[in-house]
Amino acid sequence: MIPGRNLAPLTAAMAAAALLAACNMVPGAGSGGGGKTAVVDDARLVAGDPSGANWLSYGRTSDEQRFSPLTQVSDANVGQLGLAWSSNLDTARGQEATPIVVDGVMYVSTAWSMVKAYDAATGKALWSYDPKVPRERLVDVCCDAVNRGVAVYKGKVYVGTIAGHLVALNADTGAVLWDKQSTPAGSHMTITGAPRIAKGRVLIGSAGAEYNTRGYLAAYDAETGAEAWRFYTVPGDPSKPQDGAHLDAAAKTWAPDAWKQGGGGTVWDSITYDPKTELIYFGTGNAEPWNPNARAATTKDGQGGDSLYTASIVAVHADTGAYAWHFQETPEDRWDFDSNQQIMVADLPASAGAAPQHVVMHAPKNGFFYTLDSATGKFLSGKPFVQGINWASGLDPVSGKPNVLQAAKYEQTKQGFVGFPGAVGAHSWTPMSFSPKTGLVYLPVNYTPQYYEADPAWKAGTTGFQLGLDVSKGAIPADKAVRAATKAALTGALVAWDPVAGKARWTIPYPGPTNGGTLATAGNLVFQGTAGGEFRAYSADAGKQLWTFPAQSGIIAAPMTYSVKGEQYVAILVGWGGVWDVSGGALAGTMTPNISRLLVFKLGARGTLPAAPASVAQVLDPPPFTGTTEIAALGGRFYANSCSVCHGVSAVAGALNPDVRHSAALSNPKLWQQIVHDGMLKEQGMVAWGTQFSAEQIEAIRQYVIQRANQDKALEGGTPAHAAAAAGTARRTG
Ligand code: HEC
Repeated sequence: MIPGRNLAPLTAAMAAAALLAACNMVPGAGSGGGGKTAVVDDARLVAGDPSGANWLSYGRTSDEQRFSPLTQVSDANVGQLGLAWSSNLDTARGQEATPIVVDGVMYVSTAWSMVKAYDAATGKALWSYDPKVPRERLVDVCCDAVNRGVAVYKGKVYVGTIAGHLVALNADTGAVLWDKQSTPAGSHMTITGAPRIAKGRVLIGSAGAEYNTRGYLAAYDAETGAEAWRFYTVPGDPSKPQDGAHLDAAAKTWAPDAWKQGGGGTVWDSITYDPKTELIYFGTGNAEPWNPNARAATTKDGQGGDSLYTASIVAVHADTGAYAWHFQETPEDRWDFDSNQQIMVADLPASAGAAPQHVVMHAPKNGFFYTLDSATGKFLSGKPFVQGINWASGLDPVSGKPNVLQAAKYEQTKQGFVGFPGAVGAHSWTPMSFSPKTGLVYLPVNYTPQYYEADPAWKAGTTGFQLGLDVSKGAIPADKAVRAATKAALTGALVAWDPVAGKARWTIPYPGPTNGGTLATAGNLVFQGTAGGEFRAYSADAGKQLWTFPAQSGIIAAPMTYSVKGEQYVAILVGWGGVWDVSGGALAGTMTPNISRLLVFKLGARGTLPAAPASVAQVLDPPPFTGTTEIAALGGRFYANSCSVCHGVSAVAGALNPDVRHSAALSNPKLWQQIVHDGMLKEQGMVAWGTQFSAEQIEAIRQYVIQRANQDKALEGGTPAHAAAAAGTARRTG
């Protein structure tokens, strides 16, 4: 039953008839056990709810525009928006999901692939589901235990998990209806993305291309969970037949033994089903390892090949999963330029004065905004949406291929390369939105340069990242001027991009990168949360800030809006995380606290949050450094390549994981081995490194961290406030 709907005035006969009708709308509700809520079928999904009351799929409509036609909250009254209800989440980890709302019920996923259902008007909790993901799987995700959302269809709610399962839940109760291992069993592959629905099937890929992964998109029967098809994005073992002619063609763009490292090309975010072309478009991740010379033992400079179909948009036929077209945005990627970012469909002229066309729009990590013909993948336009791109001088105006600069090929120059964009991407998964009223795309962008250096002696390891790089020289020294320069170099912006003219109309600068996704509404509004912990509304036409709410926590997720009984609500998940601190964000003070919550607003509401916890200053108190600089340097190299992804560049942590400079184990070598080598804290998310590093190497890391802590103690006389806040929330992590 739909919570909040009062059936009392109905006669028994009317109620029975209503129930029957509901059952008729849920074919197979009997056998598959789907619920009576979340009554969403193909027709409803394709129509996308023109009323705006419901938010039926991840990007609201199948074109993934994240535009709401609701106008009750508008540029005239947004100042009266207040907190209607909120819900504290049970873990303080990165929250990336966009809630789904169907007929007054909200379904939302949270960190660790958990799902919750609420009465969307009152916030009353209806049910919750926890797949109980083994916490040591944290090491298999680049950017925290995040989940970007659920799909709903015919009385069921679908979620992908960090453990690589695709799970169907009863939408009324949260009970598990079916549960499939979708990633190869025993692999390091995980799922963080939101499933999508097309023609009775659930579509899902897998996350991360740093862990010996072979990318794919899989389709499952929504009712039974039977796998219908699986499209691999990179070639497999050449001694066996490839799955399709498209992989024979792709195999020619790789060294023969590259498949042994997995290849990458994972489908970890965008999946767009276009009912007009009956094609599914999806983005693929980077090639693996990042260093092209590390992809195969035999590869020489410049012989790596384009590595198809990585860093590409690929289109397949929805019915069969058969290849339709591809467009590779970053051939022979070596900078982690995933093309997974959301793929938006629209009818637009490709350039000023041209006739409108059915196009896909894309703003991938590599910094260029593309429009392609949706039926053929033909390149129509590509313009830089950030300034200072230094890996390519531009795109070929006809083919759209980048003119790659030699200095950016760090494995060939044998030199370190400070690249922009870096692996964080000029734009990553944080969703953009498009208002057909203004004709503008609201794009969250990052300025995060990054240090790349090939490691010619690199060998594949057992645990964590497989990059083929040595990034230790990118560590940030204990030097106030360098840290200030780092902070100044790491910024972000909200860009209102005109996709027809190929230029920005207005820009809001932010002091730090990795701000949240955006929502555009017909009320001439754009909503966005910031890394600094504000939830803001701007006028969509001019970018004037009209409203802000102090969220007490950094925001990375995208907002959404819906209405119940004629009242419009705006919802957002807050909870910092989901970003890899690859560029020293913590050290530069651009990372913020994590207080994970779901916040829901409406006009005239006056709810408040409990007072934010005071940040407790924590003084660095490391044991004296008595080791040798050689050993510490070796430890620093291991730390940079294996530990910094979670504990922060140069051992300065952000808000998610402990700051190891403060660890009691620093003065207890045995405890340090028990934690790092043996995995004493694996149930808390700290995996054992004993198969990757020897006890001596792990001791060298301890020496490095002691050295770092002493340097910072001398420099700062204590710990920056953001690290203290992190220590305060670390205990809450699940
Ligand atoms: C995938 C993320 C991840 C990576 C990579 C990682 N850790 Fe951890 N680590 C964690 C988490 C989460 C905890 C906190 C566990 C808890 O809550 O008790 C932790 C805890 C620790 C602690 C205990 C801190 C304390 O509070 O005393 C030490 C020491 C540590 N890690 C060292 C390392 C070293 C050394 C490496 C690299 C070899 C490493 N970690 C790599 C996630 C990670």
